[in-house]
Amino acid sequence: MKDFKFYAPTEVVFGEKSEEQVAALVKRYGGTKVLVHFGGQSAVRSGLLDKICGLLREGGVESVSLGGVVPNPRLSKVQEGIDLCRRERVDFILAIGGGSVIDSSKAIAYGVPYEGNVWDFYLGKAQAETCLPVASVLTIPAAGSEMSEASVITNEDGMVKLGYSNNISRPKFAIMNPRRTFTLPPYQTAAGVTDIMMHTMERYFNPDCDMTLTDEIAETLMRTVKECVFAVLKNPEDYRNRAQIMWAGSLAHNDITGDRTNGDWATHQIEHELSGLFDVTHGAGLAAIWPSWARYVMGENVSRFVRFAVNVMGVPNDFTDPEGTALKGIEAMERFYHAIGMPINIHELIGREVTDEEIKEMTRKCSRDYTITQGKFKVLKPEDIEAIYRMAR
Ligand code: NZQ
Ligand code: ZN
Repeated sequence: MKDFKFYAPTEVVFGEKSEEQVAALVKRYGGTKVLVHFGGQSAVRSGLLDKICGLLREGGVESVSLGGVVPNPRLSKVQEGIDLCRRERVDFILAIGGGSVIDSSKAIAYGVPYEGNVWDFYLGKAQAETCLPVASVLTIPAAGSEMSEASVITNEDGMVKLGYSNNISRPKFAIMNPRRTFTLPPYQTAAGVTDIMMHTMERYFNPDCDMTLTDEIAETLMRTVKECVFAVLKNPEDYRNRAQIMWAGSLAHNDITGDRTNGDWATHQIEHELSGLFDVTHGAGLAAIWPSWARYVMGENVSRFVRFAVNVMGVPNDFTDPEGTALKGIEAMERFYHAIGMPINIHELIGREVTDEEIKEMTRKCSRDYTITQGKFKVLKPEDIEAIYRMAR
């Protein structure tokens, strides 16, 4: 068993009345003037934005707002946010939305006190030593950014999508009202569940699979969301099952199902090039890649894939044929993705054949100009990454 650190400092306030506490929470964590950051239309249409701004006002907290964050959030919006925060002397950032808005908020938070270009952090040229406090009112369970140390930003110059992780940006609090997720379209609901499962699987398929307690938590989490998603796709206003998924989204990425740094993450890295290049939904991109990744790396540790097949996907264990059982688990996952409306290859994801040039471009970016490998379950060289894109095409 590998040594690990566990750090999950975010205060979670969960439930139907959780939003009422927003002003008190901001003040508790030192905020006096807040940037309320949000996405396209959903928070405006639902009235959540007005409600939160009203509650802040009533609670004696000043705020300015900045909307327009798009999925796969852009660096230009981050820079707009940094300028606004400096001009308005903002000291706290409150995201209303999902992973894209929270990640954009974290990037703004790094950028405000930093004299250089915030992109330096994402390029690995600098480490942030300080940042403004960030918190969220979560509206979509998916990315897990509400408790994570990560943020992923896309630079429009070349559509380069890069992540930066730093514990200082872990949100101070997360307000989670499952009722706010009733309006999620089926595709976003399913993509969110895929991302939640993948955050668990990236940790589960690690090179040092020896932690019974963590494995059991991970398997339970995956089985739970796999069941709940069908209930909410059938009835979007099913509070009980929306709540299970919402909490699972945070637990899947706050390291309780395994230390992120020991995980594999190749599927994520390979996917980031897809959502960077084609601007597709992150969760759907993961579904398009994972089956090919799984078949490509399975030989590294077949018994791990057997355990996944049996304990998560409900495949009967054929003790005479471990490879067969493992493959049946991957096929069961593909059937699950299709059943919830997710793609299982790139063609299904983008609606056309991906070209050889696009595969080469994604391979180049994913391997940072052929200088790095990806993954730990199997260490993937640039030629392995290219082979997975080809398998998934
Ligand atoms: O922009 P609006 O109008 O709000 O619509 C959003 C958006 O179109 C919509 N939506 C959100 N809540 C809604 C809603 N629609 C109706 N009702 C609601 N209650 O959903 C769409 C997707 O939102 P987004 O924030 O993009 O989703 P998600 O949480 O999946 O975030 C994806 C981003 O997070 C990154 C991904 O790469 C991607 O850029 N990730 C961040 C991670 C992290 N920080 O730890 C880890 C992840 O692996 C991931 O890479
Ligand atoms: Zn993810």
